[in-house]
Parts: sequence; structure tokens; C-alpha cells
Amino acid sequence: MGTRSFHFVEDYRTLVRQLIAHLPLPEAMSRAVGGDFTAMGQIERQLLIGYGLKPDHTLVDVGCGAGRLAKQLVDYLASGRVLGTDVVPELIDYAKIGCPPTWQFTVVEDIRIPFAENEADFASFFSVFTHLLFEESFCYLLEARRVVKPGGTIVFSFLEFEQNWQVFNDAYKALRHGLPQLHLTTFMDRTACEAWARHLGMLIIDIRAGTDTFIELPGPVVHDDGSRSKGKVAFGQSVCVLRNDKVPREKRVLSWETSWDIGSSPTSSQMR
Ligand SMILES: C[S@@+](CC[C@H](N)C(=O)[O-])C[C@H]1O[C@@H](n2cnc3c(N)ncnc32)[C@H](O)[C@@H]1O
Repeated sequence: MGTRSFHFVEDYRTLVRQLIAHLPLPEAMSRAVGGDFTAMGQIERQLLIGYGLKPDHTLVDVGCGAGRLAKQLVDYLASGRVLGTDVVPELIDYAKIGCPPTWQFTVVEDIRIPFAENEADFASFFSVFTHLLFEESFCYLLEARRVVKPGGTIVFSFLEFEQNWQVFNDAYKALRHGLPQLHLTTFMDRTACEAWARHLGMLIIDIRAGTDTFIELPGPVVHDDGSRSKGKVAFGQSVCVLRNDKVPREKRVLSWETSWDIGSSPTSSQMR
């Protein structure tokens, strides 16, 4: 990948530092990851449990932010653990609070997942690909393919024009009015999920629209505005769930593509 600075590092660090300068810390941390800190953490937890997260599993939470999800998993992952990454050190510091010392939270500045091969049962990217270029998201899926065990599960959320028009509406209007863009916001459609899964050798287990009420809550969750959700709820963003079969259709091509040293020729071991 070489040394370069990525747009998301500067954008997110600036955003979080501005929030910390103007708001009490818990509010700044919540706003930095989209707000509704407790309720959304509970909904993310239930979404993962619904796709098979077990109490002894290891979850890699990429772009873990302030630990919105991790904090809600402390009781559930009794014999498991979370490995979280984020580009903002202040968010990582906050994410650690209340989590077991065996859980690992790491600052990253690129699109790598700094964990060992086959270390995890699950990887989640909640509201992360929504801020990356497509190529960056695909690099992250290559990394997820490496760190998640064969047969393990990878979950990412994404924005679709149809169901998330309001987000696009706000973004283009901000642009027209010359308002500052805090960070990149990207939309994609399901053909991208299909192409990525095919080229990664992963199976799409499920794709849900942001408006689909498919997440089963064990009890009511209370939102920041005091409203309550119960029963089955929607996530708000679309969700794609992949099974990490690790058998790319175009194996020879993909094994060369996965080399980070893009400029070099594939070695004999990579060509196998
Ligand atoms: C909208 S927040 C969501 C946070 C968390 N996933 C959650 O649901 O609470 C997006 C997060 O992704 C982080 N982020 C952005 N680019 C990233 C990257 N390349 N690698 C890791 N984290 C990244 C941001 O710093 C931010 O904390």
C-alpha cells in the first residue's frame, strides 16, 4: 500500500476534535458515531446475534468508533472478545472504557486490519463503507477475508439511494450551498455487493434494505429523543451479510490482487 495519508484519517480526526471542543465528552462521542449511542449499540448487537454471533466468538469491529457496539457486547461475549479499530485515537480511548482488558482496541491510519489470519469468527463494518471509496471498501473486505476464519461471517452496512434518499438530499444540498463537507458519504447498490462477493469467494447470506424490519429486539430500546422501539426493527442503512468461504472464483487472479505490493510481479507461491 506504501505510505500515503488517507482522506478519512484527517476528516474524522478533525470532526471528533471539533465535537470534543464544544460538547461534553459523552455527547461528543455519541455524535461522532451518528448519535443514539445506547439504542444503536443494542440494535447492532441484536443484528449480529441474529446472524449467529455466539458468546465465545471473536468479533473484529472495524471503525468501532467510541465503542457503541462493543459496550453493548460486554455481557453477551462472556467468553469471547472484541478487537476494535478506528482512525481516531480519542474514540479508541473512549471505546475501551468499561470493556474487559483482554479486548483490544487499536488506532489505524489506513485500510488494514492489524490482526492475525483466521483470528476472528465475525467482522463488522457498521457505517464505515458509507465513508470510503469503493476501492477502499474492497481492500477492507480482502483484509476481512484474511482475519475471519473459513465459514465465518462478515457484515457491512451501506447506503442505497432509494431507501436513504434523505441522506443524499442533505449531502447534495450542503454542496450546493457551499457548506463544509465533514467527510465523504458514499452510496452504492446491490450489484456492488454481488460483484465483491463473487471476486472474494464469499457467499451472500442476506441483504436487507435500511427500511426492512428484520432485527429482533429481546426488549424495548430507548432512543435519545425518548422514543422506544420494540419487537422487530429496521437498521436504517442497508445491510449485507457474507460468509467467508475463502474460495475465490478467479483464484489465480485474486491471489495476485491480494498482494499489497502491487508493483511487484506475483511470486510463485502467490500464483498457486
Ligand atoms: C459513523 S461512525 C460508526 C462507528 C461505529 N461503527 C458505530 O456503529 O458506532 C464511522 C466510524 O468509522 C471510522 N473510520 C472511518 N474511516 C475508517 C477507516 N479507514 N478505518 C477504520 N475506521 C474508520 C470513523 O472514525 C468513525 O468512528
